[in-house]
Amino acid sequence: MYNSKIIGLGHYVPDNVVSNHDLSKVMDTSDEWIQERTGIKERRHVIPDQDTTTSMGVKAARIAIERAGIEKDDIDFIVFATLSPDYYFPGPGVLVQRDLGIKTVGALDVRNQCSGFIYAISVADQYIKSGMYKNVLVIGSELHSRGLDMTTRGRSVSVIFGDGAGAAVLTREDNNSKGILSTHLHSEGQHAEELSLIAPGMGKRWVTDIIEENNPDDESYFPYMNGQFVFKNAVVRFSEVIIEGLKANNLEADNIDLLVPHQANLRISQFIQNKFGLSDDQVFNNIMKYGNTTAASIPIALTEAWESNKVKDGDLVVLAAFGSGFTWGSAIIRW
Ligand code: ACO
Repeated sequence: MYNSKIIGLGHYVPDNVVSNHDLSKVMDTSDEWIQERTGIKERRHVIPDQDTTTSMGVKAARIAIERAGIEKDDIDFIVFATLSPDYYFPGPGVLVQRDLGIKTVGALDVRNQCSGFIYAISVADQYIKSGMYKNVLVIGSELHSRGLDMTTRGRSVSVIFGDGAGAAVLTREDNNSKGILSTHLHSEGQHAEELSLIAPGMGKRWVTDIIEENNPDDESYFPYMNGQFVFKNAVVRFSEVIIEGLKANNLEADNIDLLVPHQANLRISQFIQNKFGLSDDQVFNNIMKYGNTTAASIPIALTEAWESNKVKDGDLVVLAAFGSGFTWGSAIIRW
């Protein structure tokens, strides 16, 4: 059996910086409240018509492919994780195949929200381990800003999320002690509505809402989050799934060189850091700059960690995420 390893990473964020102060001009909030509760100082929002979820993913992918040192036609499969696709259907995977001009390889869309990138690399890893594909392009990209309620009504959700994309190229690794050692995935759908966007879905579409019910202000078109409930579940599940991954590989927290947690909230990352007794150098956070970019947060953070030489050959790198679904997961990687 083969292993898979990450050989190229890239990220893209829009130039448009939206500070907490900027938000306080359009809703009743403050820099102090946002920083104290979430650690976020600013986030990026696309300029409408300049970027889409797909275009950001494509920009990140081009960088990852170039850094991987392969040609786009060496890609055997595409996995795209997002909760904010350009279209209701088709999903963005095929749009990446089109826009990168890759030959007619398979393209798969992964939902799973904040855990989307972990699920996506797990899928890629299995295809590579089985020998079915050699090079798989994995993208996490999100465009939140156009779907948020930017009034005081939506403030507890809309201050948290930002736009951006990250990508990774995974390839076959013959040395079984290197690369993605294991991935661990979970779900608990009984809490689906605690962090959700109900519409548009087949149960709630514009046509019935707007035309038949004449209710354009329907809040179900904006994301809903039961913040404290999500927080409590996140800290428990993050911890569990990191321990599960370490145990599966006969490793302990002491062995972690770098933890890259999904950038949900700085307080969640700090809780995990303290629980595992990790130093600041062992945990990579960039939520301060980008907010929570859901499926894009881990590949953006991993790319920045790699670019700043925080990921070195032989390091034990742990990725972990928790999010809407609820879904959660981890990946244990020997770099
Ligand atoms: N600015 C100012 N005041 C606000 C804002 C805001 N942006 N948002 C809410 N408030 C107010 C509320 O109206 C409330 O006022 P009240 O006491 O007068 O009713 C007060 O602040 C407290 O609101 P809570 O929702 O109880 O605030 P809480 O301390 O729980 O913080 C937060 C909210 C930051 C969302 C927190 O619950 C949290 O971090 N939850 C974790 C969820 C998370 O990380 N989600 C990220 C996305 S999900 C994911 O990635 C997994």
